[in-house]
Amino acid sequence: RRVSATFMEMLLICLECSTTVRPKDGWQVFSSAQDADGRCICTVVAPEQSLCSRDSKGRQLRQLLEKVQNMSQSIEVLNLRTQRDFQYIMKMESQIKGLRSKFRQIESEKKTPVTRNFQELKGKMESLQPLIPVLEQYKTDTKLIAQFKEEVRNLSGVLMGIQEEMGAYDYEELQQRVLSLENRLRNCMSKLTCGKLMKITGPLTVKTSGTRFGAWMTDSLASSKNNRVWYMDSYTNNKIVKEFKSISDFVSGVESRTYNLPFKWAGTNHVVYNGSLYYNKMQSNILVHYSFETGRVVTQRALESAGFHNVYPYTWGGFSDIDLMADEIGLWVVYATNQNAGNVVISQLNPDTLQILQTWNTEYSKRNAGESFMICGTLYITNSHLTGAKVYYAYSTKTSTYEYTDIPFHNQYFHMSMLDYNARDRALYGWNNGHQVLFNVTLFHIIKTEDDS
Ligand SMILES: *[C@@H]1O[C@H](CO)[C@@H](O)[C@H](O)[C@H]1NC(C)=O
Ligand SMILES: *[C@@H]1O[C@H](CO)[C@@H](O)[C@H](O)[C@H]1NC(C)=O
Ligand SMILES: *[C@@H]1O[C@H](CO)[C@@H](O)[C@H](O)[C@H]1NC(C)=O
Ligand SMILES: *[C@@H]1O[C@H](CO)[C@@H](O)[C@H](O)[C@H]1NC(C)=O
Repeated sequence: RRVSATFMEMLLICLECSTTVRPKDGWQVFSSAQDADGRCICTVVAPEQSLCSRDSKGRQLRQLLEKVQNMSQSIEVLNLRTQRDFQYIMKMESQIKGLRSKFRQIESEKKTPVTRNFQELKGKMESLQPLIPVLEQYKTDTKLIAQFKEEVRNLSGVLMGIQEEMGAYDYEELQQRVLSLENRLRNCMSKLTCGKLMKITGPLTVKTSGTRFGAWMTDSLASSKNNRVWYMDSYTNNKIVKEFKSISDFVSGVESRTYNLPFKWAGTNHVVYNGSLYYNKMQSNILVHYSFETGRVVTQRALESAGFHNVYPYTWGGFSDIDLMADEIGLWVVYATNQNAGNVVISQLNPDTLQILQTWNTEYSKRNAGESFMICGTLYITNSHLTGAKVYYAYSTKTSTYEYTDIPFHNQYFHMSMLDYNARDRALYGWNNGHQVLFNVTLFHIIKTEDDS
C-alpha cells in the first residue's frame, strides 16, 4: 500500500500491519525524483502485506506458516504409510492366526508326518520376517508424532505471544514514536542515497526530434543550477554534439554550443559525467574521454576483449555493443566478451584514466538485453527494446549476485534505443523512437534506526 498521508496515518498503518514497527527494525522509505527545488521527495510507506515480510516479525510469521505447512505434509505422509502398514499387519495377523491353528493341529495329530508340516511352518515364519522393520517403523513414527505434537504446542505459544504484542501499543507510546519518527525524517535527505529499483513511472515526452535512434542526457555530477543538456542524434557516422543551457532551451530548440568531436561515435550509449563525454569510437572497442571544457580528448583506451560493431549489441542492434553509464558510485562500462560467452560484463572505470577498477561477469546474454542502466551499483537489464519490455534482471556488484525482476515501464513509442539513469535527477533518460522521454524511478530504502544521529 503506497501512502502519501500524514505521519500519524502512516504510523497507524504500519502498526496495523502485524506489529512490524519495532525500534530495532528499519523504516521503509521510498524516494522518487526531486521536486522543482531540487529536494528529494521521500514517502514513508506503510508496509504492504507482502512488504511486511521484510521485517523480522513478518519473517517469523512466514517461517511459522512454512513450518506448519511442512508439518501437515509430513503428517500426511505418515498417515498414508500407516494405512499401508495397517493393511500389511492385518494380513500378518491372519497368518499368525493360521500359524497358531497349525501348531494346535500338530499337537493333536501326532501321526501327521512332521517334516512336511515343519517345512510349511518355516515358510510361514519367513513370510513374517518383514513385519519386524514395519514394527520398528511404527516405533519411529510414534516418536515423530510426539515431536510434531510438541512443535505444534510450541508454535501456538509463539503465535499467541505475537497476538498479545499486537494489542500492546497504547496511544502515548504511539505519540512518542511519531515524534521520534519526525526527527528521523528530517534526516531523510542525507540518508536517502541509494536503494533498490521498485517502480518506473512516466514517461514524460520532453521533445520529439531527430532520427529514430539517438541519445540525450544531462550531467549527474553538475549542480542543480547547471542543467545543460547534450544531444547526440543517430547511432553511427556522426560526431556533432549539440548543447543546450537547460531543458526548456532544449524543448524550444535554442542551442548554446556545438562540439565537433575528433572521432565519430558508435551506438547511443554515451554518458556525460563530471563535465566530460565518454563514448565508444566508431568501429572499435576504444573508449574516448572528451572534455567539453577544453574541447579535447583527455584519454582514449581500448576496452580489451570487448565485442564491438554489432558483435554483442543490445536487441535492437545499432552498434550498441559498449554501453557507458554513471550512477551514484561512479563510471561504468557494460559490454560482452567471448571469454564470458557473449554475456554481459560490467567494469567500473577510473573516470580520469579509463582504467578498469573491477570487473563482474554476469550470465545474461548481451544480445538478449534490450538496454541496461546502473543504479547504486546494481545493473538493471531490460528484456527487449520493443513494446512489453520490462526490467527483467538485476545484478548487484556489491554482492556479485543476480535476481530476476519484473518491473514494467511504458514503452510509449514502441522502440527504445537508449535508457540511462541519472542519479541527480533520479530519472531515466530515454530515446523512444525519435522522442526524448523521461521516466521517474522509485527506489526502496530501509533506514536503519540504530545509526540515527
Ligand atoms: C520446510 O521444508 C523444506 C523442504 O524440506 C525446508 O527447506 C524448509 O527449511 C522447511 N521449513 C521449515 C520452517 O522447517
Ligand atoms: C518446544 O519448546 C521447548 C522450550 O522452549 C524446547 O525445549 C523444545 O525443544 C521445543 N520443541 C520443539 C519440537 O520445537
Ligand atoms: C569531477 O571533476 C573535478 C574537477 O575536474 C574533480 O575535482 C572531481 O574529483 C571530479 N569528481 C569525480 C566524482 O570524479
Ligand atoms: C517525476 O516526479 C516529479 C515530482 O513528483 C514530477 O514533477 C515530474 O513531472 C515527474 N517526472 C516524470 C517523468 O514523471
